[in-house]
Order: sequence, then structure tokens, then C-alpha cells
Amino acid sequence: MDASFWLESWRDGGTKTSFHRRDVHPFATRYLPAHELAGKRVFVPCCGKDNVLNYFRDNAAHVVGVDLARSAIEEYMADNGIALDEVEPGRFEGDGITLLARDLFALTADDLGAIDIVWDRASLIAFPDEGPDSLRQRYIRKMHDLLSPGARILLVTLEYGPIMPEPPFSVDPATVRGYFAEGFAVDHILDDAQPNHRMVEKFGLRFFSEHAFEMTRRGEKRHDGARTRELVAA
Ligand SMILES: C[S@@+](CC[C@H](N)C(=O)[O-])C[C@H]1O[C@@H](n2cnc3c(N)ncnc32)[C@H](O)[C@@H]1O
Repeated sequence: MDASFWLESWRDGGTKTSFHRRDVHPFATRYLPAHELAGKRVFVPCCGKDNVLNYFRDNAAHVVGVDLARSAIEEYMADNGIALDEVEPGRFEGDGITLLARDLFALTADDLGAIDIVWDRASLIAFPDEGPDSLRQRYIRKMHDLLSPGARILLVTLEYGPIMPEPPFSVDPATVRGYFAEGFAVDHILDDAQPNHRMVEKFGLRFFSEHAFEMTRRGEKRHDGARTRELVAA
């Protein structure tokens, strides 16, 4: 699942981008209701052209999305009839929204600005966890690095069997805890079994569940003289 896999998926479209939903994912509106988004800055890693960007643009102070595929961002603008300004190569700005056509692994906290909330749907589970320093391990480290104490991630994963060698990968709750428990308080808030999900019939699955987690970056912010030092628990 290197860059070319995703760039080709966006180029070919059709079933290769069947992860794209026409609606706003119901967990976004359920767990991040509009009144909780007021004044918040939201980050959507691996955003594709997800309509959830519109929900955050409408209800949060600002949404920042990043996707490797510039074509995904161009499709987002075309689908929604908006023209964002490309203020520097690969950085698109508009009212309440910034979209970055960049590699997530090259992002710095300065690229994003302060982030209060992360929406991760089909992002962690898009990366394989094979071998040392896997893409998924690098993704998990990146979330630890980019987020300050108190920032929350709303993470959605899929758990199904038998497992498949391509995204979306099956990631169960115990594995999520193992990935994040050191740096985040992890709350498993939903196990939503969906025996009639389209993937069950398409891939002959025996079971299929969509999980939601709320995870809060550990640590405390301490005012230390003229500057605030962030102390992140080990
Ligand atoms: C399964 S799609 C999910 C898209 C979106 N989150 C949604 O729910 O519709 C995964 C996305 O991750 C993007 N992606 C993969 N590797 C990336 C990377 N290293 N940096 C930024 N985006 C990446 C792909 O281009 C693709 O749009």
C-alpha cells in the first residue's frame, strides 16, 4: 500500500474508491455533535474527498484535511462546487477549511496548527502492519507526535473475519489499545455488529463489526514562566 496504490485507486475510481461515502458517517454526527465542535480545530488525516469535511467546515472553527492524492482534493472541490485557493503548492485554503495534498508522514505540527479533534475513519485501517517500522506503526507514531495533551481522536475501525490482505484491514479493540494506550486514554465506545454490511456478502465474511473509540492525548499543559510547556506522560 505504497503511494502508487492510492494514486492509482483515485485515478481508476469506481470500486477502487468504494470507501467513499455519499453521506456523512453517522458516527461523526453521533459522537462529534455540532455543539461540541463550536470553536474547535479538526484534523482529518487521509481525508480523500470525504463529505465529513463539509460537516466539520459547517460546524467547527476550522477543518484541516490531508491526502496524498491531489486528485482527491480536486474531486472534493468539483463535487462541492467550491474553488479553494492554492496558496502554495499543495496547500488549498478556503473559509473554514485547509486541504493539504501531501504525504501525512512528512507533516509537522506547524503545517496543521493547533488541533483539538481528529476524525479517523478508514485512515489507520488503510495502512498495513507488516514487518518492522510498518506504515501503520509510523501512522500511530505520527499521531502521537502531532497531537498535544487534551487533543481527542474519534477513531473508527473495522473488525471482520476471515481477514483480508488489502485495506480496509481488520483491527480489533485489543489491538487498538495496544497501539495507543501508552500515549492516550482509550475508550472503546461502540461495537456495532453489521451482519448485513455490503462487505459481508461481497467477500464472504463470517462476521463484521464497526468499532468507535474516543482517545484523549495524555499529559498536562503547564504554564512555565513566559511559555507553556507541554508535559506528555510516557
Ligand atoms: C481508504 S481511503 C479513506 C478516505 C477517507 N478517510 C474516507 O473515509 O473516505 C484512504 C486515503 O488515504 C490516503 N493516503 C494513503 N496514504 C497516505 C499518506 N501517506 N498521506 C496522506 N494520505 C494518504 C489515500 O489517498 C486515500 O484517499
